[in-house]
Amino acid sequence: MSQINKSAAQLLAPIVSNKRVGQYHQIIINVGDLANLCKPGNFVAINVGGDSSSMILRRAFAISRVSVNSTFGGTMEIIAAPHGQGSKWLCAQGEGVVLDIVAPLGTAFGIPTEPVPVLLVGGGYGSAPLFGLAEVLNARGCRVDMLLGASTASKIYAPMEGKRAVNSMRIYTEDGSMGQAGRVTDPIAEIIKDLDIAVVYSCGPMAMLSAITKITDSLSVVHQCAVEEAMACGIGVCMTCVLPVENEDGTVSMLRSCIDGPVMDGSKVQWSLVGKQL
Ligand SMILES: Cc1cc2nc3c(=O)[nH]c(=O)nc-3n(C[C@H](O)[C@H](O)[C@H](O)COP(=O)(O)OP(=O)(O)OC[C@H]3O[C@@H](n4cnc5c(N)ncnc54)[C@H](O)[C@@H]3O)c2cc1C
Ligand code: FES
Repeated sequence: MSQINKSAAQLLAPIVSNKRVGQYHQIIINVGDLANLCKPGNFVAINVGGDSSSMILRRAFAISRVSVNSTFGGTMEIIAAPHGQGSKWLCAQGEGVVLDIVAPLGTAFGIPTEPVPVLLVGGGYGSAPLFGLAEVLNARGCRVDMLLGASTASKIYAPMEGKRAVNSMRIYTEDGSMGQAGRVTDPIAEIIKDLDIAVVYSCGPMAMLSAITKITDSLSVVHQCAVEEAMACGIGVCMTCVLPVENEDGTVSMLRSCIDGPVMDGSKVQWSLVGKQL
């Protein structure tokens, strides 16, 4: 039976900076030694709304990057889209505001033992955890290529410093306002064949993850995806976040994406059954 991430701890953590980047906010939080325990793919659950709020549920955010050598002690970066009540509150908080966080939560991306060519695919703010992952894969000696996609330019999150850890970065927008016009999934099959890609890592909307799985399955390539199923508790208690996943023996179980994920083997997720009762 899966359990909550063993390294998870609750912490009062001050915001170091909050900068607007396109439609997103890059928020850096001082988390001290906890930064050493966070791995690419893990997420943080943040209490939103302040003391007088009626917002009971913590909101989950992918940990974009951590720094253990920062001037402020260990820091954690998240990329937040001001979407509903909770995320808008978070994006409005400035330097010095103390956040109540629980981290690191969930599973992490698996890192290949050999330096193999890998492809990273991010949709919208789904690119956030991929930059920290790219740094780790780069340090392992992997060739790292990246594809970022969104409906329009302002929804692309592609920080300049992120490009340092990748061999190439291509951007796709559906309206053609940045990079090439089209979907981020369009070039994947060709890139896998041309670069002999061993692993595809992805994070973004479920429809994108499902479309990538079709391609990776047809080419027998490993696909590790970080799912973003709606979460209420984030610690394995409420079953809000379950997804149908195939077991070793071929049966299908509803697994909790907050503790069995968010990183999952794309080929095991039963995408056609997501949202349906088994
Ligand atoms: C693993 C993970 C990583 C994420 N990473 C990011 C990120 O990097 N950046 C980012 O901007 N957002 C991210 N999100 C989305 C984020 O957690 C919030 O859902 C989003 O910001 C909207 O929250 P809100 O408070 O603005 O919206 P609101 O509409 O005010 O609240 C949405 C809240 O309701 C909960 N909810 C939704 N459906 C149900 C349901 N059926 N039952 C119970 N509760 C439900 C959601 O989990 C969320 O807590 C991530 C989500 C997950 C699960
Ligand atoms: S969010 Fe409650 S079990 Fe996953």
